[in-house]
Amino acid sequence: MLISVEDARLAARRTLPRWLFDYVDGGAYSEASLKNNFASLSAVRFIPAILCGVSAPDTAVKILETHQTFPLVLAPVGMGGLLSVEGEVAVVRAAAAAGIQTCLSHFSIQSIEDIARAVDPALLMFQLYIFRDRAITRDTLQRVWNAGVRTLVVTVDTPVTPMRERDARNGFRSISKLSFRHFTQMMIRPGWTWNMAHKGGRLMANLEPYGMGKTFFAQSATISRELDPTINWLDLKWIREVWKGRLVIKGVLHPEDTRRSAELGAEGIVLSNHGGRQLDGAVSGFEMLSENVQAANGRLDILVDGGFRYGSDIAKAMALGASGVMIGRPWAFGLAAEGQKGVADVIDYFHQGLRSTMTLLGARDIAALREGGKDFLRDVSGAACEPVPSSSIMKEHV
Ligand SMILES: Cc1cc2nc3c(=O)[nH]c(=O)nc-3n(C[C@H](O)[C@H](O)[C@H](O)COP(=O)(O)O)c2cc1C
Repeated sequence: MLISVEDARLAARRTLPRWLFDYVDGGAYSEASLKNNFASLSAVRFIPAILCGVSAPDTAVKILETHQTFPLVLAPVGMGGLLSVEGEVAVVRAAAAAGIQTCLSHFSIQSIEDIARAVDPALLMFQLYIFRDRAITRDTLQRVWNAGVRTLVVTVDTPVTPMRERDARNGFRSISKLSFRHFTQMMIRPGWTWNMAHKGGRLMANLEPYGMGKTFFAQSATISRELDPTINWLDLKWIREVWKGRLVIKGVLHPEDTRRSAELGAEGIVLSNHGGRQLDGAVSGFEMLSENVQAANGRLDILVDGGFRYGSDIAKAMALGASGVMIGRPWAFGLAAEGQKGVADVIDYFHQGLRSTMTLLGARDIAALREGGKDFLRDVSGAACEPVPSSSIMKEHV
């Protein structure tokens, strides 16, 4: 049983070869964005409300027209199926059992068709990268639709993949085959290596029909050539025309881009710096939440990610107006550590943490958490939340 996200992380470190653990755990260059994701969340603190009599808060929400037991969504993690032979199917099963949605990465090991057969596709989103060859993108959209998935998440913060120094040190950038060093690291992780050698997925299945290579490494090389770094708002307009389901844009941080997303006709955005893996020294999604909630002006569902490790972090985001929170590494660590059960433990950890936080804040349900808003919070860095007298907290929540 995994007690916390950090437990899952340490267990994943013990289970995975170094190059794979670092691929998940690391960020771009100095990892300043990665560190700031955590720092910005811990700079905002709660003012508790006492004697409120809230023993069993109701955490249910609707995110992108889908009912969930609490406001958490599993974020897309490329090649997540390499972390355990149980694959991404274990992830979506754990999420569906807990009553929350998962966004499958375009670069998953198992295909969207297989994943959508394993759970109710209403609980799935599909994350898309746009290829230079738009016929591939169009065909992928059709497959996603045919699989029964109605929420598309287009990631727009990756026109390049900046240096991730841990990957470079481990020889995991532009890799064409496993080296002696990779094998050495795998030898000291015999459990993972044995399982993967016998039962593991070998390809990014969503790309298989498009002749991008017969090995996982050949596919990676093709991806770096064939992803379109020139995509712009006109391409998003094209996607909006082609895709008849709900459209979410992932990787937004600037309020002006939130306004444009709403004008484009998107249903949602994900405020994200890609888990600190793209622009080094970027603001966090959480830091930009209040401004973007104002910019959206009720027109969009706003998800936020980056550094969320506790249920209390979710409460902070909801109090600042988010529709929900996404997590990437936490579920990836859970999967690496203990497969489906590990993912379930991580999800439960967030849910329990959210419930106890709401009790201590006197928030009966998510609506109360949202209405109480900034009254619940103090920003000790002095930036995002104006202090409100505690008397107004009492008025709202007793
Ligand atoms: C190993 C790894 C792979 C990722 N792959 C993708 C991807 O394929 N598509 C995408 O939109 N985001 C991807 N992300 C970003 C996540 O969706 C999410 O934005 C980020 O992990 C959130 O930060 P957290 O890990 O601190 O929760 C990836 C993140 C990690 C850690």
